Amino acid sequence: MSNKGALNAYELADFIGYKNSLLVKEKSILYDGNFTRGCGVAWSNTSACQAEDHGFKSRHPRQIFEGNSIVHKITVFSVLSLSLLALGCGSKEKVYKIAIAVPLTGDIAAMGQGMKRGAELAVEEANASGRFQRKIELRPFDDRADPKEAVNVANQIVSDPSIAAIVGHLNSGCSIPAAQVYAKNNLLMITPAATNPKLTLQQLEPSWKWVKNVFRVNTTDDVQGQFAANYCLQSLKIQSVAIIHDKTPYGQGLAEEFQKEFETKGGGVLSFDGIAIGDKDFKALLTRIKSLNPQTIYFGGIYNEGGLIVKQARELGLKATFVSGDALQTSEYFKVAGSAAEGSYITNVGVPPQKIPEAKSFLEKYSARFPQPDLQPYDHYTYEAAKIALDVLEKAGIQGDSIDKLRMIETMKNLKFNGVLGTTEFDEKGDTKNKAITVYLVKGNNFVPLN
Ligand code: ALA
Repeated sequence: MSNKGALNAYELADFIGYKNSLLVKEKSILYDGNFTRGCGVAWSNTSACQAEDHGFKSRHPRQIFEGNSIVHKITVFSVLSLSLLALGCGSKEKVYKIAIAVPLTGDIAAMGQGMKRGAELAVEEANASGRFQRKIELRPFDDRADPKEAVNVANQIVSDPSIAAIVGHLNSGCSIPAAQVYAKNNLLMITPAATNPKLTLQQLEPSWKWVKNVFRVNTTDDVQGQFAANYCLQSLKIQSVAIIHDKTPYGQGLAEEFQKEFETKGGGVLSFDGIAIGDKDFKALLTRIKSLNPQTIYFGGIYNEGGLIVKQARELGLKATFVSGDALQTSEYFKVAGSAAEGSYITNVGVPPQKIPEAKSFLEKYSARFPQPDLQPYDHYTYEAAKIALDVLEKAGIQGDSIDKLRMIETMKNLKFNGVLGTTEFDEKGDTKNKAITVYLVKGNNFVPLN
């Protein structure tokens, strides 16, 4: 017996209500094991709203009753009880949903969880404002920073018609393939973190047969890589570099952009090496790099590998300045690298939120709402992306009982949004026109902006 579809608690309540007359006539109904388990999940909780969070797999509604592999009987009484329960908790509140898809578990969950907090804040504010006649619900999805899982998650997202937009993903490697799933289903995607230019550029290729649905509120690695190369050459007076990257679309892409600009402007690239995500021991590679005596190590990748590389480099006595990009601008980097993080130069897209007047109130609200965890690099970007999604939902998406997704996408093209990132407007690719990059020096477990 295969599971072919997902039915949520609201849909189930509808379905049972709709079928009641038929059930009474038949005196008994047939059901399959999955259906029963689904009910168990749904009604062992206190409300259908909670139950919907779990979701459950079942066969298509019609097939539950008409399929060949039906195995048990239950009485009309049980079914009617279920329907009454369903209707009781249910009154089936209609909601508009915004999905967020990021790594919520795994090695870089700290950054994904921070992004979820940013989106939560935006949604809570929208609900408190009374702007929408229905409640806004944030639906989190865990892509585990894995491109295949990201596509799975994207397919789940597009199967829910009440999801009005997707905020995510974090990783370029996840965002690039998932974007196509959203495009095929006319769903607006706004990434607050993926920096590989290909994410939006792919929409201009002839093979992109769908709507141009992808937007991003952060700038890209061509800009970031060039900035870092020029900063090394001009401000740090560095002439030679060893480049390491993590072989992902983000890490390798950023490293290549850095390399291109550094060489074009006369710098010397002594080596260019890829490592694998999850590697822990870089001593052999760093020993070889040490023999080349570079002034700098430039790393394209994420804080776990970056933190270990700088730590092991210092243990080997390698004194080269360590320079890297946005995915290291997190306190998690300090936890991995320890004191070896001191003196690193880390670039990030955009301007520090502390420097943007509109972001001040965000920072206050964020720390009041989430007093424990540190602000992660993309939290305010995610807050902004969610606010933009809500803005276009309000302006263009709500059409009677349904959501006009194409109109939402169309509205993005001419949007001018003032918020925590300053003014956001999009170019013809869907990228923000805001190209600011900031370089930070790590000093005493702080990122001190230098420009
Ligand atoms: N900027 C990083 C990426 O694109 C997070 O994957």
